[in-house]
Amino acid sequence: MSTEAMLDVRAVRRHFLFPGRGRIALNNAASTQPPRELLALYAALGPDYENVHRGQSRASQEMTARFEESYDTIARFIGAPGRAGIALYRNATEAINAVMYSLLTEFRDGDNVVTTMMEHNSNYVPWYALCREILPRFGRRVQCRLARFDPVSGELDLDHLASLIDARTKLVCCTGASNFLGTRNPLGAVRTVAAASGYFQPNGERRSWLLIDGAQLVPGTFTDVSALGADYVAFSFHKLLSPFGTGVLYAREELLASALPFLYGGDMIAEGRVFPNHVEYNALPWKYAAGTPNILGAVVSGQALRLLLDLALTPKRPAYFGTARPVERGAVRDAMSRVAAWNQQLTGRALDGLSAIPGITIYGPRDPARRTSLVAFNLAGRDPVAVARALDQAGIESRAGCHCATLAHHALGLTPPASCRLSFYLYNTPAEIDRAVAAVAEIAAGHPIPRSRSWTPRRALVPAGRPGPC
Ligand code: ALA
Repeated sequence: MSTEAMLDVRAVRRHFLFPGRGRIALNNAASTQPPRELLALYAALGPDYENVHRGQSRASQEMTARFEESYDTIARFIGAPGRAGIALYRNATEAINAVMYSLLTEFRDGDNVVTTMMEHNSNYVPWYALCREILPRFGRRVQCRLARFDPVSGELDLDHLASLIDARTKLVCCTGASNFLGTRNPLGAVRTVAAASGYFQPNGERRSWLLIDGAQLVPGTFTDVSALGADYVAFSFHKLLSPFGTGVLYAREELLASALPFLYGGDMIAEGRVFPNHVEYNALPWKYAAGTPNILGAVVSGQALRLLLDLALTPKRPAYFGTARPVERGAVRDAMSRVAAWNQQLTGRALDGLSAIPGITIYGPRDPARRTSLVAFNLAGRDPVAVARALDQAGIESRAGCHCATLAHHALGLTPPASCRLSFYLYNTPAEIDRAVAAVAEIAAGHPIPRSRSWTPRRALVPAGRPGPC
């Protein structure tokens, strides 16, 4: 069966509003498009809008049940043992910061953190800040070490990574898939090296803990955090169909139970157990849910996972969305295999088409099976931001800049540190890829770009010459 037959993209697209606007949405590594059902769900939650864990009304009880059920759905989706291993934050960046602040007091003088040159800034800058700015103020010296990647293949240099990990490595941080190179990292091998370090953790374990940035991995790959042997995994729902504002930290329950919380305040304390000289924390996962949370975001995000299963498996007959039906791991595996196969087909098509364009440099592995669903490139002598603007004029939405993968751009000697990126998801079609490739070819050839019918001049929100936030 071809991947096209496996994923009914026509049926999938009917669940979204953006095709009706004539948009070719190829900036999915930044954020995916929300299905109609999720936008409608926000409105549907309005009449019974209430706080969670903070009211005795039927509305509060029902909202609490929906909210808590989302934790269960998320746990099932990623293969976590249960909701106790899930903490919700605003995004993956905040989730990684939460790990940094929770572990802050545990680092000993002389320890180190190992991360890689292909990380998103959210999996480097917190560790830089910890080692260079925060811990020195407490008189502790902790190193942040950076593993290289091969500039030609875009593959992580595992030997270099292994050479950086030693008996003082408390934590190894690695992206599951690069948001610039597209490289999928060999997480099993990274885990093996981390496990052999011999670092003496406070809970008695003799190994380095492993944090995986799953922001680009989880949306398009069957992920089993238990099988990965990950200690921490962070990802964001705005790359998983849900609107902005909800991110996940999965952590081993034992680590969440023993660590200090990141945020302190209401709901994260055990009911009634606050005294002038003594405070007890709530049971997991609520120990990590201080303050009134993003309730609608959590509810919609749990339902987004259910809808993703439906879109991949039975887009004409949703079976999981809108229900509290337990999410079966077999269904997650089947659904995500279809999404992965579809994404890989689109990525291969884009790689084939783009690589035939004179003057193009494509970053990362050439084999679509080795990458996630994005292709970043530069055209000789062209400013990538200007390329992205020309693509927009042709009706193709892309992203140019450093994509917050600033270290990797510097490592490749790119000045300015920028590239143009096309990124795909399950609702994109081969025809859209062909349109994008043809537009890049026209831009590379210096031909004038015919304006797409849907293009209208917009007020410049980002000053010309600036690639936007990094
Ligand atoms: N990290 C997101 C991206 O790659 C925002 O575009």
